[in-house]
Parts: sequence; C-alpha cells; structure tokens
Amino acid sequence: MPRNVSRSKKALAKPIGILGGGQLARMIALKAHEMGLPVRILSESSDDPAAQVASGWVKGSLNERKTLKQFLNSCSLVTFESEFLDASLLSDIARETGTPVYPRPHDMAAMQDRLTQKSLLLKHKLPSANFFPVKSYAEAQKALTKLGGRAVFKKRRFGYDGYGTFVVHSPSALAKIEAEFGSNIYGFIAEQFVPFRREIAVMVGRSQKGQTIRLPFVETYQENSRCLWVKGPLRETSALKTLAHKLELFLKATGYVGIMGIELFDTGRGLLINELAPRVHNSGHYSLNGLCVDQFSLHLKAILGQDLGKPVLTAKGFAMLNLLGHSSRKPSWDLPSDIHLHWYGKHDNRPGRKMGHINALATTPDEALALVKKRLRNFDV
Ligand SMILES: Nc1ncnc2c1ncn2[C@@H]1O[C@H](COP(=O)(O)OP(=O)(O)O)[C@@H](O)[C@H]1O
Ligand SMILES: [Mg+2]
Repeated sequence: MPRNVSRSKKALAKPIGILGGGQLARMIALKAHEMGLPVRILSESSDDPAAQVASGWVKGSLNERKTLKQFLNSCSLVTFESEFLDASLLSDIARETGTPVYPRPHDMAAMQDRLTQKSLLLKHKLPSANFFPVKSYAEAQKALTKLGGRAVFKKRRFGYDGYGTFVVHSPSALAKIEAEFGSNIYGFIAEQFVPFRREIAVMVGRSQKGQTIRLPFVETYQENSRCLWVKGPLRETSALKTLAHKLELFLKATGYVGIMGIELFDTGRGLLINELAPRVHNSGHYSLNGLCVDQFSLHLKAILGQDLGKPVLTAKGFAMLNLLGHSSRKPSWDLPSDIHLHWYGKHDNRPGRKMGHINALATTPDEALALVKKRLRNFDV
C-alpha cells in the first residue's frame, strides 16, 4: 500500500478536533463533512454555531487541562478557530497525548500577542509600521509624541474586530482612554498611524508536508475597525508579487502548518503588514464561492498533509459582505438567487455582531461588490 494511503487512514481513525464553536469552526466542520472527514467540536454550548452542524460535540472550556486532555485523546489531530487560547497548556497536552495541534501552539503563542507578533515580523524582515511597547499612560503619552502625534493603540492580547484598537489623533483623545492603560495587565503597543490608501488581505498556507499555497490578494473595507466587505481578485503588481514571495519564505522558515490570514496596508508608496492570524479568516470567506477550493477545505488539507493544489477562480470578480446585526430582533430575509448566503446560526442577534455573510460573483470585483451591497436590502438583520 502506498505510504500516503495508510497515513490518511490513520488520520481518519479518530475525528479531527476543533477547539471552539463559533462561525469559523462551523465552516471548517461543514467542509470536513463534505470531504468525508469526521469532526468533533469542543465548546461551551450545544447551541454554538459549530456544535449545531458537527456530528461530534463535547461540552467544555478551552483552557481547562482535564477537558483538553480528554478531548485531545479522543482526536487524531486538533485545530482551532481562535488564537486566544492558553498556548503553553495546549503545547504540554499535545506532547503528553501525542495528538498534534495545527497550527502549532508556539506559532499561536507568537501571534496571539501584538508585541511578539511585531517581533516575528521584524525577525523575518516583513515590513510593518513603527511601534513602541506601552505599559502605562505615561508611556502612552511619550509614544504618541515619538510617533508624531497620531498613533493607534492596540491591546497586546485579546483584541479582535476593532475591540482593543484605539485610533488616537491628539493628546486629549489619548486622555479619554487613560483608564484603559490602568486596567489592562498585558499592556499595549502604540503603532504609527498609517494613512493607508486601501486595506488588502491575503490567505496563505503551508501543509504538513511542506507544500505552500497563496490565495488571491483582495481589498478589504473596515468600518469602525470591523470588516464590512471584501472584493477581488486584485491585479498583481510587482509589489504584491514581491510580498507574496517574502510570505512564502516566512512560511517555509517557520515551518508553519495550516492556513494563515494576513492583513495589509497599501500606503500608495508600499505595503505594510498590519496583522497575522494563525487560522482561517474573515477576509478569506469569499473563497467559499469565488475559488474552486475554499480556505476551510485548504486548512483541513494542510493539517492532514494532503495536496493543496492551486487555487482557481470561479469568476473574474467576487465580493463578500458581512451581515452585521443591527438590533436584537430575530433576523429574517428573503433570499435572492444571485448571491450565496452563509448563515452562522447564532442564537442571539446584537448590533455589530457577525451573523453571516453573502458572496457574489461577477465579471469584475466592483460589479460583485455592487451586487452584494444591493442584496443587503433583502436582509433584516
Ligand atoms: N496603524 C494603523 N493606522 C491606521 N489604521 C489602523 C492601524 N492599525 C489598525 N488600523 C485600523 O483598525 C482596524 C483594526 O485593527 P487591527 O490591528 O486589524 O485589529 P483587529 O482586527 O484585531 O481588531 C484595521 O483594519 C484598520 O482599519
Ligand atoms: Mg484586523
């Protein structure tokens, strides 16, 4: 029997474990089902988006030793939907149980903290905005001056969707968030304000066997620091191609396993990396319809060591629009046939909460974007 056949059989002896029950875990689980792969979710409630669609679900906390150990013992390999886990606990348990966790916990550890993430970027000569670590209000004031009076303060840990990001344009604006510096034990980074022309994102990945993949570059649009839409593919300039090459070298040098989301600023004069996420990512949701293979299936293939192939576009243009909650009312819609709905099954609607997304395909990225924007009217979220 060829070696790869016995390996994939071994991988299927127990399910693939996913730590977390949110929409990212749900979309990984749905794709695992399509690929004939059994999955098991660890999350707090059977109502969680991923728990609703997975055949295997275990109730429990993601940072609790006994629960994690039992869970890892019941899985052939484990992945996660959020980088905000106890990476050293996860690393210990992976070693004790012999169950691999991908992306590896030490990669998670490096990226879950905005300061160590910056160090990682510097170490691998990846361009990013100037910054200073900040622990107190006094240090924040100094950093603001050194950064020319405009800065973005970011909580080192647990920030997402703009929660934990403070754009500051004056000393008086900084004074308004003084209390934040006293109450946050992990501290902040103060980053140079980047007057970007547009924001860009790209999904990259590396398989257990060392094969790398890169999806198309896309433009992303954030409102109140939260992603609203994505459109693509972008025309590949030489600057984008050069960056893609650097990212490939980065994946190879670190030996990363899995899919990684990368956010960028296009300043008009160059590209800066804003953020790395060691997981599937909102900016890659378009791939469910815009590519022949989506980021969730690719993530599964990467962690299983299967061939990643090449991403092929299904249309000349694609767009994704997040369906964000506007109230606490139960959402309703009448589904147009020219877009694709991906609903997350969240029990409670809340203003700003990501409840689902819609994808559209067209002959240009702008046409696809116009279509999803138009179809938003069909949704009462
Ligand atoms: N240095 C910066 N200069 C200008 N805008 C920024 C800067 N950093 C972040 N932002 C804006 O805030 C958004 C959220 O910040 P980000 O660092 O991506 O945190 P998160 O997505 O984890 O909340 C970015 O997408 C961008 O729109
Ligand atoms: Mg971000």
